[in-house]
Amino acid sequence: MSTYHIKNLEEYFQVYRKSIRNPELFWEEIAEEHFVWRKKWDKVLEYDFSKPAIKWFEGAKLNITENCIDRHLHIRGDKTAILFEPNNPDEAVQYITYKELHKRVCKFANVLKEKGIQKGDRVCIYLPMIPELAISVLACARIGAIHSVVFAGFSSTALATRINDCEAKMVITSDGSFRGAKTIDLKGIVDEALENCSCVETVLVVKRIQSDIQMVENRDCWLQPLLDKASEVCEPEIVNAEDPLFILYTSGSTGSPKGMLHTTGGYMIYTAYTFKNVFNYKEKDVYWCTADIGWITGHSYIVYGPLANGATTVMFEGVPSYPDFGRFWEIVEKHKVTQFYTAPTAIRALAKEKLDFVNKYDLSSLKVLGTVGEPINEEAWHWYNDNVGKKKSPIVDTWWQTETGGMMISPIPYTTPTKPTYATLPLPGIQLALMDADGEEVKGNQVDGRLCVKYPWPSMARTIWGNHERYKNTYFSTFENMYFTGDGALRDEVGYYRITGRVDDVVIVSGHNLGTAPIEDAINEHPAVAESAIVGFPHDIKGNALYGYVILKDVGESRNHENLRKEINQVITEHIGPIAKLDKIQFTVGLPKTRSGKIMRRILRKIAHNELDNLGDVSTLLNPEVVESIINNRL
Ligand code: WTA
Repeated sequence: MSTYHIKNLEEYFQVYRKSIRNPELFWEEIAEEHFVWRKKWDKVLEYDFSKPAIKWFEGAKLNITENCIDRHLHIRGDKTAILFEPNNPDEAVQYITYKELHKRVCKFANVLKEKGIQKGDRVCIYLPMIPELAISVLACARIGAIHSVVFAGFSSTALATRINDCEAKMVITSDGSFRGAKTIDLKGIVDEALENCSCVETVLVVKRIQSDIQMVENRDCWLQPLLDKASEVCEPEIVNAEDPLFILYTSGSTGSPKGMLHTTGGYMIYTAYTFKNVFNYKEKDVYWCTADIGWITGHSYIVYGPLANGATTVMFEGVPSYPDFGRFWEIVEKHKVTQFYTAPTAIRALAKEKLDFVNKYDLSSLKVLGTVGEPINEEAWHWYNDNVGKKKSPIVDTWWQTETGGMMISPIPYTTPTKPTYATLPLPGIQLALMDADGEEVKGNQVDGRLCVKYPWPSMARTIWGNHERYKNTYFSTFENMYFTGDGALRDEVGYYRITGRVDDVVIVSGHNLGTAPIEDAINEHPAVAESAIVGFPHDIKGNALYGYVILKDVGESRNHENLRKEINQVITEHIGPIAKLDKIQFTVGLPKTRSGKIMRRILRKIAHNELDNLGDVSTLLNPEVVESIINNRL
């Protein structure tokens, strides 16, 4: 039986049982056999969920880039590590071999050092999907600096919040980015953000779109001349297994974004192990994940997991609709992609277009299809299975979170029988529980509850940067001695899991987590707005969209409502980014409130979903009459 590469269902159950019986031994064997350590650990695991304190491989020393790059050099030095497919299909593809990646990461790391970046310093990376994004991430890891990648679709305000929260000393950006037929002025956004960030000393600028940008003296430097001068030799900084690797911000149901902190050793082995098994990865494969490295999926399954396995990982700069809706499939054919990993929202958008866009291309290289980020509906699952996989490539519906670092529930292809809309079974080492409202575990099958994890796994986030109390309250205080995911799930008659969605005030729009509170805070900044409440409602392509109920300060506000709606969305775009715009905005005279003044979002959600039959008892509200008026004016 191979613990590292599971080949059939019987083996899965054996491996799973072993991983539960003795988790420490299970992960220790994997760590020992498949990775390079400069010093062995003193203890595999030490944890206490009440604090919470979690340590994996304490005492061990390593560098993750040595595992992702150096150790491959003599066996696969000339193999492509990163295959870069540019936005414009006429621009040349870049095949970056492991040898070349090594050289480019070392040079970049030397530039960071020259600019004063040291172990433990935070570096904010705000780049489009170009090779420098992966290379700068790895360069930080090379010298033990903590990278904080911010998705390049976030606004300057959102960027500034994230830079200030982790007190980044440096920002790495580009003169702009290509997105389909458009260009975006990333450097301008950074300049605006930095007006409010005194912690940043240096901005490194990658030349990508050749635009004419302003460079601030003594702060901004073009990257290329620095790289030209930098040495190709950069010994890896040897760090402790529990030293921080990166911070990645994710939305919470309240307040500011949470900087999830991931550490090095456990994260490395978990992402590598899950990559190998969930994608049934083999040496000659060409693997493609369409996510952006600005999200956790890109961190774990474009950069670290694939490179730790010596894989060829595709990085695509563009969008699925440019130059036309066949672009994804054209790329699959062109590079003979074997594993394809994307989000349900992309599948739904492409399924709306003519089948011709898919059928034109030879997709016979595909062996495994994956989805992530939100529940996949049955229709999208079948479209993907029939038209992309031609019913021969298993679909791995992978459930996980920024906080979990790696996949937690997923079929193993050619092993676990798939079932549409089900993420199926927990991966080895993952001990799940469903909890009821009274805090009791719901046992048995054909049940549902709140999804929790009972035992630590190596890649879990260790804290929220600068706010351990919030980490404890958000994840470890709802249920005693458990990590609470914030998701609801059901377990069917054979023990398969299906994720039913968030049970908190986070809405997943096009696969992006959006906390409703920060959007409400943004809207309330509009001078005409008195109060607002936002809920999610089902949307054909995006999965969910946002519905805002807005009370205006002046009830008799004479301005055109359409213009106000535009202005409100503009405020959201400025504070957070266009991904958080509202699809529907209903102006209302009041919001349903409890006697203690809390907005009853449950009722607003039902109205937005058009489920008017069972609103529940509204008589205990402070203002029951408002419900009727909201119903009558719903959009
Ligand atoms: C949701 C993305 C259903 C879920 C890796 C989770 C999913 C949140 C799935 C985390 C899936 C992710 N099926 N729901 N396969 N995958 N989710 O942090 O609600 O961006 O809590 O991490 O996305 O989103 P995040």
